[in-house]
Amino acid sequence: MGVVLGIESSCDETAAALVDDRRTIIAQRIASQDDAHRPYGGVVPEIAARAHVERLTPLIAATLADAGMALADVDAIAATAGPGLIGGVMVGLVTAKALAMASDKPLLAINHLEGHALSPRLADPDLAFPYLLLLASGGHCQLLLVEAVGSYRRLATTIDDALGEAFDKTAKVLGLGYPGGPAVERLAAQGDPAAVPLPRPLLGSSEPHFSFAGLKSAVVRAKQADTYRVADLAASFQQAAVDCVIDRTHRALLGAGPVTALVAAGGVAANGAIRRALEALADEHGLRFGVPPAALCTDNAAMIAWAGIERLALGQSDPLDVAARPRWPLDPAADPVRGAGVKA
Ligand code: KG4
Ligand code: ZN
Repeated sequence: MGVVLGIESSCDETAAALVDDRRTIIAQRIASQDDAHRPYGGVVPEIAARAHVERLTPLIAATLADAGMALADVDAIAATAGPGLIGGVMVGLVTAKALAMASDKPLLAINHLEGHALSPRLADPDLAFPYLLLLASGGHCQLLLVEAVGSYRRLATTIDDALGEAFDKTAKVLGLGYPGGPAVERLAAQGDPAAVPLPRPLLGSSEPHFSFAGLKSAVVRAKQADTYRVADLAASFQQAAVDCVIDRTHRALLGAGPVTALVAAGGVAANGAIRRALEALADEHGLRFGVPPAALCTDNAAMIAWAGIERLALGQSDPLDVAARPRWPLDPAADPVRGAGVKA
């Protein structure tokens, strides 16, 4: 089955990667747009889409050159087809369609969340289904039972903000700039996690859902009070986030049925404190634990190529008229959650 070219353009990273079915990332390139969005404190969709148009094609050419390969050496083309900022998604998907058409290779329209959900299997050849996945990024915070490729049961979601959003907002109010998660983590290392009393929304509640809006607002109020060291605020926020994640994940584990492993993916899974706490929880339950390396947790094209390889191995591909989707839930049968926002 061979080598898949993966393309990712659903948010503010323009990325291309070549991955083979033996889990080798042959080449990958990521062009971050952080500098373009920094003045606005967040991703501006129009700027993101234009940057993808400028950068994607040369980036793909450079990735192929890094590998010493031509398009003819690739066995299929996989691109994120949603969910995400629709302008960027369309740039990546249309580029993939053109390449698939020109080279007469199969096209795989990948759900970005499926890319994150299967990324732990790219990093760990022994990770078997079913596993419990914490998927935490800038737009999502979900607990998913990953039963098989294409079979995902959403056990929990956030009823308001995503966890990455809470990290980004905290960074903003603490004056740490954009993107916020890594900056909060760095500063938290110098602070006292018990210094600032902060809420742990939904802690102990019977459904494993998440909520972070109250925590986010409490950080804003604590900052305005002007009585705490910024490092203590960062550390206390991160500790509250860890406590929520562990309590909610534990709750989901109790209701998930037998699983082989506890794994995490998405940008927030790059956070060391969250990784260590999840590993301890997995240990307690005698479960295998896995988090892909940080570069595979944040948005990247290797995970899109890998999801393509997994689907191709099952004989799947997509027609050239497949649509780009701004919203695309991994588990369409999941009950709507009262209070949940419009995030995909
Ligand atoms: O998966 P991702 O790269 O993009 C989305 O699909 O959203 O996730 C980005 C999110 C941002 O909110 C960022 O602040 C957060 O992941 N993040 C982190 C860390 N690195 C990235 N949050 C906490 N600690 C980190 N080290
Ligand atoms: Zn993502």
